[in-house]
Amino acid sequence: MTERRAIIIDTDPGQDDALAILLALASPEFDVLGITAVAGNVPLPLTQTNVRKVCELAGRTDVRVFAGASRPLVRDLVTAEYVHGKTGLDGPELSEPVMELQAQHGVDFIVETVRERASGEVTLCTLGPLTNIALALNRAPDIAPKIREIVMMGGGFFEGGNTTPAAEFNIYVDPHAAAALFHSGVPIVMIPLDCTHKALTTRARIDAMRAKGTKVTDAAAALIDFFERFDEDKYGTDGGPLHDPCVIAWLLRPDLFSGRDCNVEIEIGSELTMGMTVVDWWGVTDRPKNAHVIRDIDSDGFFALLTDRIARL
Ligand code: RIB
Ligand code: CA
Repeated sequence: MTERRAIIIDTDPGQDDALAILLALASPEFDVLGITAVAGNVPLPLTQTNVRKVCELAGRTDVRVFAGASRPLVRDLVTAEYVHGKTGLDGPELSEPVMELQAQHGVDFIVETVRERASGEVTLCTLGPLTNIALALNRAPDIAPKIREIVMMGGGFFEGGNTTPAAEFNIYVDPHAAAALFHSGVPIVMIPLDCTHKALTTRARIDAMRAKGTKVTDAAAALIDFFERFDEDKYGTDGGPLHDPCVIAWLLRPDLFSGRDCNVEIEIGSELTMGMTVVDWWGVTDRPKNAHVIRDIDSDGFFALLTDRIARL
C-alpha cells in the first residue's frame, strides 16, 4: 500500500459529518491525526460530544478529539437543529461518550501538527464552518505553505444556496472565515452543493446499506433516515443530499468526481448575499484560480464506496 495520507478532520456533527468520519475511520488509506470540532449544526459542546460518539461507534477511541471555536469570527452563531435535531445527531440511540476530549484547543492542535509535520504532509478535511481553519491561519501564517491542501464541503453556484437563496450553510455561518481561507494561498478542493445535491440517499441506497446488517451500518442508516427527511420535503426528492462524506470519498476515489480550477470569492458585504460563493466557472474574469471546484459525482460509485467501507467497521 502506498503511504497513508495524514489528515485532520474539522467538523460540526451533524449526521452527514458522522458518515464522513465513519468513512475516514474505516479506510486504511488514512492516518487520522485528529478530529477538531467546531460550532455549526449545533453548538460546540454538542459537536465535540458527537465526534466522540461517532469515534466510539466506529470502535476508534484511539482517535484524538479536540474542541475548537465556539462561535464564528465576526457574526453570531447560526445553528441547524431544524435539520439535525436537538442533539445534532438525532436518529439512532448513541450512548454518551466515555472517551476523553483532549485538553488542547483544536486550533492549537492544527497549528502544532502542521508545524511538526513535513511540509506538504497534512491535508485538512473540513465538514463545517471554517472558523477553526481561519483562526489557525491567522494565529500561525507560517503554516499556510506547509498544508498539502484543504478539501472542504461548502458553497454552491449554479445550485444556489440552502440556507439563504445565495448561501450554503457552512459558508453562511462564517463567511469571514471562508474569505480568509480562499485568500490564504492554500490549495483548496471545494465540494459545493452542485456536487453534493447529486449524492441523494435514495431508498434503494439506504436499503443496501441497512442490508449489511452491522451495528455501524444500522446506525448509519438511522442517522440518514432522520437527516434526509428535511431535504426530501424541501426538494421533493427520493432521499436527501449526503454532503460531507463527499470530502473523504474525493480523497479515496477522485475518479468518482469531476470539476475545474476556478476563482472563488466570498460575499461578506451584502446582507442579501452574505456567504455566497461567487464561482467564476466560465472564466469571465482574470481573478486568480484559487480553488479546484467539483461539480459532478458518480453517485452510484460514491454510495457503493461508502457502504462497503463502513460495513467493515
Ligand atoms: O450545507 C451542508 C453542510 O452544512 C454540511 O456540512 C452539513 O453538515 C452542514 O454542516
Ligand atoms: Ca457538516
